[in-house]
Amino acid sequence: MRPLRRRSSASERAKEIEAINCIVSGKNVLITGGAAGLGYAFLNHFLKHGANKIVILDIDAEAGKRIALGIEKSCGEKKVHFIHTDVSNHKQVTEAFKKTSALLETIDIVVNNAGILDERRWEKEIAVNISGMVSTAMLAMQHMRRDTGGHGGILVNVGQHMDIRNTAQLPVYTATKHAIIGLSQSLSDPYHYEKTGVTVITLCAGLTETSMTVDSPNKLLSRVMKADFVKTLEQFSIQTPYVVAQGLMTILRIGESGSIWVIESGRAPYEVYVPNPRTLRRHYKNNFTHVDTKVVGGRAIREVCDSTRTGLMSCA
Ligand SMILES: NC(=O)c1ccc[n+]([C@@H]2O[C@H](COP(=O)([O-])OP(=O)(O)OC[C@H]3O[C@@H](n4cnc5c(N)ncnc54)[C@H](O)[C@@H]3O)[C@@H](O)[C@H]2O)c1
Repeated sequence: MRPLRRRSSASERAKEIEAINCIVSGKNVLITGGAAGLGYAFLNHFLKHGANKIVILDIDAEAGKRIALGIEKSCGEKKVHFIHTDVSNHKQVTEAFKKTSALLETIDIVVNNAGILDERRWEKEIAVNISGMVSTAMLAMQHMRRDTGGHGGILVNVGQHMDIRNTAQLPVYTATKHAIIGLSQSLSDPYHYEKTGVTVITLCAGLTETSMTVDSPNKLLSRVMKADFVKTLEQFSIQTPYVVAQGLMTILRIGESGSIWVIESGRAPYEVYVPNPRTLRRHYKNNFTHVDTKVVGGRAIREVCDSTRTGLMSCA
């Protein structure tokens, strides 16, 4: 029999909420892609835990304005500001950060979330998911960093939890989401952290019910792939954006700079790490590697012969 997961008691839950409130309450937050899906769920959780002001940067002007107005009506004050921004346009993101600074004075938390899945328009996918996320991350560092007058803060980069064996139909999307891990790992290095005081965390969500997921079978490079893609999706259990946002609040409380968190199948967040590349080398039975060093044009070149794999010589 599988051991049952222990349910937390009411007092433990109350303590957890209090601890999250300590981190979030009174903070100013910027969320990209906050007008729908995961970003909108993050927004609601920040409000629930007492954030001071929240700015949404999103390309969907209608939804962004509607959300800001709706929250103003229900709260009786302007808690949420919307700035119409295409994150793939660096100039627009720079302007949006300037406006946010003017509105909020300080930015404490940035959730770098805006992203698309559209393999048919893969140049746009790269522009939003990589250029857009890099722009947002750089500007977040610039505005929050301590060594140039900021107060430090938290940057959350939103990635995707995926098994590399299940990504055959999403080559470009997969590449963009892997890039975010590299970006986060670099920016969270103590080399930066000691100067900036900005904690950089990666949140990798598993399959989540948003319009991105619903539309995804129609956004593949070829229609022929659709049936296989849908079959792959059916292997996973889908979670709600609410659960991911709830998990993000816990991660803000316990996540250290450089940590990578997965939230999948509606469960509590767990931490993963990037393996040491030295441990990844493949070993074959009766493997032998012969290394020769030649000098060509005054430059030393190592020739590696791995006879068990190819029987060919290759340069390394
Ligand atoms: N849905 C999932 O299963 C899932 C899982 C893991 C990670 N993610 C990632 O989470 C993030 C949010 O995805 P989602 O599922 O909530 O998608 P979504 O489509 O529901 O929401 C994305 C939001 O980003 C906005 N947006 C799109 N392009 C933009 C641009 N150029 N500039 C500014 N805003 C833009 C959209 O208008 C929308 O409000 C993405 O980075 C996605 O890759 C999604």
